[in-house]
Amino acid sequence: MLRDPALIPLSHQHQHGLALAVLIERGLKADPSPQKATELCSKVADMFELELVHHFEAEEQVLFPAVRGRLASDGIVDQLIAQHREMESLSGRLAAAPEGERIPLLREFGELLSRHIRIEERRLFQEVQEKLPPQVLSELGAQIDDRLRKVCPLSGKLPWDEAAESRRSVSSY
Ligand SMILES: [Fe+2]
Ligand SMILES: [Fe+2]
Repeated sequence: MLRDPALIPLSHQHQHGLALAVLIERGLKADPSPQKATELCSKVADMFELELVHHFEAEEQVLFPAVRGRLASDGIVDQLIAQHREMESLSGRLAAAPEGERIPLLREFGELLSRHIRIEERRLFQEVQEKLPPQVLSELGAQIDDRLRKVCPLSGKLPWDEAAESRRSVSSY
């Protein structure tokens, strides 16, 4: 099933998140050295600042409030918010961690990020697409676009303009 256009910007960022999780997993498998961990820590910090902070805000301030009460259970939304806080905390701990303690934290962060994205893609987004009326979904999509567009006020360009590849099937997650 294709992702609804309203959710494509967030799904597109999910692809970036999954790519980071894979980079951490494969990177540490091939080279579990302090140098590699330092390199990966800096990638996590960049990704957090450039994308994840804004992504979490868009979900918590626009998407989640709009879908609360329309799902079979709001428990999933509470779980996802708790995971956002956990990832923020892990990112802070990573930045402050002594060299020897970075690898387990990186693994924990990558696994949580990947698990979180899969819950959103396979369960939340799926249910949102099925339950929200098309008009509500389309208004929600416009608000998400508007919110994420503010991330790049200079170029005005949207990351999901990059390619039609974003319209990939849910089964790829
Ligand atoms: Fe999220
Ligand atoms: Fe997300």
